[in-house]
Amino acid sequence: MVGPPTSQDTNDKLKALKDPMMHTQDKPQLKAEARNLSFYYGAAKALKGINMPIYDRKVTALIGPSGCGKSTYLRSFNRMHDLYPGNRYEGEIRFFPDNTNLLSAEVDPIEVRMRVGMVFQKPNPFPKTIFENVAYGLRVRGLTSKRLLEEKVEQALRAGAIWDEVKDRLQALAPTLSGGQQQRLCIARALATEPELLLFDEPTSALDPIATGAIEELVSELKKRVTILIVTHNMQQAARVSDYTAYMYLGEMIEFGKTDEIFFKPNDRRTEDYITGRMG
Ligand SMILES: Nc1ncnc2c1ncn2[C@@H]1O[C@H](COP(=O)(O)OP(=O)(O)O)[C@@H](O)[C@H]1O
Ligand SMILES: [Mg+2]
Repeated sequence: MVGPPTSQDTNDKLKALKDPMMHTQDKPQLKAEARNLSFYYGAAKALKGINMPIYDRKVTALIGPSGCGKSTYLRSFNRMHDLYPGNRYEGEIRFFPDNTNLLSAEVDPIEVRMRVGMVFQKPNPFPKTIFENVAYGLRVRGLTSKRLLEEKVEQALRAGAIWDEVKDRLQALAPTLSGGQQQRLCIARALATEPELLLFDEPTSALDPIATGAIEELVSELKKRVTILIVTHNMQQAARVSDYTAYMYLGEMIEFGKTDEIFFKPNDRRTEDYITGRMG
């Protein structure tokens, strides 16, 4: 999946030579930041005052035992909880570079979902053609030109690493694809509207090892253009794909850090117990 260097790559290298700041690879930019974020399902407090940075064009993995709040946390970023009554947020999720609070009542959840896409555990293509699955978000955005739609759909399918497998059958129904292909189609669908942050909730837990490998490779490729927050219960997967890892337990963010540090020298005993399999 690693292609020849593009002019963008060359530009970045030239920029790095000119701009000394770009040499300090340890200084990533913030894409988003949870600030004292709590969340309630009715009276039940599922997230407890979470503070956490999400770095731009990096992969951040969320790990922790079942029921600790990983999905709840992820869904806060695209205001999914707004779809159900009785749910309540406290605190903020700041989104950069514009410093918008995604949770603000003045911010339209539909707008948030344009900027923050989501891929679920079970591939969920619409019962439509492959083409229409990817064109959908573009049409919602008002794109009508057939030529532009075709161009953007191809771009998204390429970015989803599935173009070669479907280019001759764009009019086939999406549910006829294999599970792994459906998941890459869903990623392409999410990418079509060019989100800035992509949320993955255990995206490979319904897939076989080969399809899982393809998704992991794709995630590593995608971070060049989009910031990624991924929930996984697979420790090896977190270690393979992520730059940063956050360990959650009982609705709290216990520890956040660079992935190698979290895995090789965690600061908190609870993180260590989970990672070494003493708990979970
Ligand atoms: N729709 C819901 N209504 C009420 N409680 C929920 C709902 N979804 C999840 N919860 C509760 O919130 C907590 C966190 O769940 P979840 O975010 O799904 O955890 P994880 O993804 O880490 O397994 C759990 O106690 C769970 O039972
Ligand atoms: Mg979950």
